[in-house]
Amino acid sequence: HTYDVLVIGSANADLTVRVDRRPNPGETVPGTDLVESAGGKGANQAAAAARLGARTALLARVGDDPFGQLLLEAQHAAGTELRHVLVEKGARTGTAMIVVGPDGDNTIVVSPGANARLSPADVRAAREVVAASAVVSLQLEISLETVRAAVKTATESGARIVLNPSPTPEKLGADLLTAANPLVVNEHEAELLSGLPDGTPTDQVKALRERGARSVVITLGGEGALVLEAAEPIRIPGVPVEVIDTTGAGDAFTGALALRLARGATLEEAARFAVRVGAASVTRPGAQPSYPTAEELA
Ligand code: RIB
Ligand code: NA
Repeated sequence: HTYDVLVIGSANADLTVRVDRRPNPGETVPGTDLVESAGGKGANQAAAAARLGARTALLARVGDDPFGQLLLEAQHAAGTELRHVLVEKGARTGTAMIVVGPDGDNTIVVSPGANARLSPADVRAAREVVAASAVVSLQLEISLETVRAAVKTATESGARIVLNPSPTPEKLGADLLTAANPLVVNEHEAELLSGLPDGTPTDQVKALRERGARSVVITLGGEGALVLEAAEPIRIPGVPVEVIDTTGAGDAFTGALALRLARGATLEEAARFAVRVGAASVTRPGAQPSYPTAEELA
């Protein structure tokens, strides 16, 4: 394979403000100075994998505006192959309005912009790069029909599909669930998609596999992750760190996981590595600017 990881997904400029406390509806609160940085679940996964040394490509759409430029520069610096990042004339780059609270937790509103125009035809036109990739990593910040086209093309080429169904629709089609190897979900997504909102992660991880996922990872924030690949779930402990900003930690985890899977690791080994990468990312502000290189991680 030419590439370890091909990410097909979104790219957003993240506009972040920190607050001491969140406003109630109708209320105004002051925040810190605005920070603009590179984000978007797809671009984040690609940047995480590339910074760690993966041969990485990204299929995405940005607009021909300064935010698009910011994203291209960030991917270039991370080492991602950019030939398949399509710059759309007259379109706005996807933008995420992020508020980070005092505990480093965040709320995000995304304006999709050019991400909404990434199409099944774009995926088909990139068939060659799909065929040249060991792992294809997907999220749901682009249209579902484009994700379906990506699943179809990746399946035909024999690539392994990593799926992070985020943001999570109320129901995830069985076709997407059965393609995922693994399905990577956080606790909230596990509650929604397992059909066991009050279950333990152990119950949920099993239910997600019964629903069709070939393997499953539930990320548990500071508590690490739960992995189901063979018969019994395996608990990966968390790495204690000082939490500054959790934005994009799940994307860092998934990009790192995809890299290790591409290099032949078991899901358990890959998740142990990915937990460390996710933990490193929360110790610094922002999504992509916080992702570690292999040297920094060591
Ligand atoms: O997962 C974090 C990401 O979600 C942010 O970078 C933001 O762009 C939104 O897509
Ligand atoms: Na971070």
